[in-house]
Amino acid sequence: MKRTATGIATAGLIGAALVAPAAADEIKVGLLLPYSGVYAALGTEIDAGFVLGLDTFGEDAGTSFQIVREDTEVKPPVGLAKARKLILQDRVDVMAGIVSSGVLAAVRDVVDGAEVPLIVANAGNDIATGEACSPYVVRVSFSNSQINRPMGPWMVQQGITKVYTMAPDYAAGRQMMETFAESFTAAGGEIVGADYTPFRKTQDFGPYLAQAKASGAEAVFAFYAGGEAISFVKQYDSFGLKADMGLYASGFLTSPLYVEAQGPAAEGIVTSLHYVPTLDTPVNNAFVAAFEAETGRTPSEYAVAGYDAARALVEAAKTGADGGAALAAALSRVSFEGPRGTLSIDPATNNVVQPIYVYETVAGPEGLTQKLLAELPPEQDAPNGCEMPTN
Ligand code: PHB
Repeated sequence: MKRTATGIATAGLIGAALVAPAAADEIKVGLLLPYSGVYAALGTEIDAGFVLGLDTFGEDAGTSFQIVREDTEVKPPVGLAKARKLILQDRVDVMAGIVSSGVLAAVRDVVDGAEVPLIVANAGNDIATGEACSPYVVRVSFSNSQINRPMGPWMVQQGITKVYTMAPDYAAGRQMMETFAESFTAAGGEIVGADYTPFRKTQDFGPYLAQAKASGAEAVFAFYAGGEAISFVKQYDSFGLKADMGLYASGFLTSPLYVEAQGPAAEGIVTSLHYVPTLDTPVNNAFVAAFEAETGRTPSEYAVAGYDAARALVEAAKTGADGGAALAAALSRVSFEGPRGTLSIDPATNNVVQPIYVYETVAGPEGLTQKLLAELPPEQDAPNGCEMPTN
């Protein structure tokens, strides 16, 4: 069955028809994503990946799936209200999605209390798989510390020792920069300054960039995503900073999802991430071809997280689990070879374990592309206070 990207984004209920009906009852999935606000494009991309994942793997699930969508608007109180609606009114069996760490923090207790499994398909909030871990919260995307921790020693190895950090002022920005600063200084580097810019409100990065320039740093390390990433990268370039201070970041900064909107300003930026579409493996090549055929665009890390969330759900459903504690337990044992490499869930925290890639955005024959600089070994977070109750 063929659908357009627009069809995926606007359809209210799809999914049941995508998968052959089977003997078991259908599983009702609440997709909780931002379809508006600063991360709207990310939500739509995760949705497209999720639908493709159900299309690709769902036939083997032994059940069918129905999707109900709700828009978090990237606002924690809205996300919480929508999670309650999905659980209490729509009576979903499982939820998937959540882009913002702030929204994840807001919905954690309601998910845990209602015992409805949540497959986190983006939000990296460390606490959700650390001290506030839950048997019902299983993350297939990444954690904020997992992406950034390996970059500290890697940058010191490249000879960079003085760095200024910049990120939006909310949980994800703070966790990413704190983890990077910790591993960078442990490897011998020095953080010469840091700024947190108001989240969802900053349009002019000029005053912050001026401070970074005056700091004597050799490089900036940053995290921005979505609309903020586009403005930040363009302004960094137009302020003429790129020539004097290299720009390094958590790889969402130059996501294939919006790198074309950044244009030449993105060239030369070096970042770390759990997925790059240029990984030359049979599994990834097949995924890239399928996603491109479906949507007309190169898949990003957001598409992969949606796709792998659907696959994890199918793998768990194959055990016969169709909701509650049984489905949550099956999700926390999932492991497979996906587009990003070998992915498994650490049952001690319910966070994903996966390799991290360092890539540079470069000009290619068909526009900007991702040049792989290093594949770093699988990153597994410490329990960070997580004492996983058995469900
Ligand atoms: C987060 O809030 O956890 C977050 C949002 C967007 C990203 C990465 C992390 O690209």
